[in-house]
Amino acid sequence: MVVREIVSGIDAVGVIDWHRVSFDDLMDLPEGTTYNAYIVRGSEKTALIDTVELGFEEEYITNLIRAKVDSVDYIVANHAEQDHSGALPMLLELFPTAKVITTEKGKELLLLLLLVDEDRIQVVKDRDSLSLGDKTMVFYSMPWVHWPETMVTWVPEDRVLFSCDLFGSHLAASPLFSDNSCRLQQEGKRYYASIMQPFRSKVREYIDIVESLSPAIIAPSHGPVHNNPAWILSQYREWSAEEGKNLVVIPFVSMHDSTRMMVQCLVDALIERGIEVRPYDLGIASTSMIAMDLLDATTIVVGTPTVLFGPHPKAAHIAFLANLLKPKARYLSVIGSFAWGGKTVQALADMMPKLTAEIIEPVYVKGKPGEQEFAAVRKLADEIYKRHQDNNLV
Ligand code: FEO
Repeated sequence: MVVREIVSGIDAVGVIDWHRVSFDDLMDLPEGTTYNAYIVRGSEKTALIDTVELGFEEEYITNLIRAKVDSVDYIVANHAEQDHSGALPMLLELFPTAKVITTEKGKELLLLLLLVDEDRIQVVKDRDSLSLGDKTMVFYSMPWVHWPETMVTWVPEDRVLFSCDLFGSHLAASPLFSDNSCRLQQEGKRYYASIMQPFRSKVREYIDIVESLSPAIIAPSHGPVHNNPAWILSQYREWSAEEGKNLVVIPFVSMHDSTRMMVQCLVDALIERGIEVRPYDLGIASTSMIAMDLLDATTIVVGTPTVLFGPHPKAAHIAFLANLLKPKARYLSVIGSFAWGGKTVQALADMMPKLTAEIIEPVYVKGKPGEQEFAAVRKLADEIYKRHQDNNLV
């Protein structure tokens, strides 16, 4: 990684992690990621904005040497998660007079997760500011993008917003600035779906605040820097809206093809009714692709056989994930097959208490589906169609 100027006095000094394939062992990263960090040099003082993941300290410090940084007054920790704070203990050793700037909750987490010396931390509140001389840092508390302590840092003189996870993307790319490409759109959406989706009402609030600042540049902590903020702001408006699209997502698993046959019947029936549909075979599907479609889906139908007495574990996993992500879907159903009993449908519904979706009568059949069962699946498609029609989606 090299040091690159964003505007005069502000450089990017973070690192690219080209080969990372998963985050938190939860989200697959097909395009790697970056840990962005920045240096802001005022006429009197110098601040670092965020650090990098543990294991990348050497590259980060090399960048600081290349940028000829010989003293640091402040290290701003917009977010305590270790991909941004991992190198903080080493930085504090390297710059023994530097203060860590964070929120009250950020302090609590830095003490807990990184054992940072309490005396080194200076807490800021919403809209507090610190002068660096001819540049100022203003801190906006924005909890839940992505943890409860998150904040963003605004430099008004240059209209640069350091937004940490907000507006980020797991995209390892050599260009510093966003090209607003399909690739970036895909990775920004994947990131939003996996990280921000549960907090969309907060995100909408924060978009309003960010728009009121009219930033020239949004510099997130992952992926390209946005020098055309209107593009990413409009993407966020769309992703965080409460209204879904004319889309049914069908995550399914099938052991002996009975559930698969029902899914295929439902897919065909929905297509015939003019409804977009995305079936995901949970044996091979990317979790983050499902998360992205949950951003748009008005209806979710889980397909699962009964394993012993409940849903297949892969279906249980996706139900649990949906409960965490709290997608905007308004309708939910289950299809599948069982051989000797169990309480699969109820068990799945119990795994998603945070979804406020209406349950459409499941189609859960004994054994291999025949004409009567396929007719029930087509009736489910009719019920979905009616509801999409009620929402002016078809
Ligand atoms: Fe990129 Fe929530 O850390």
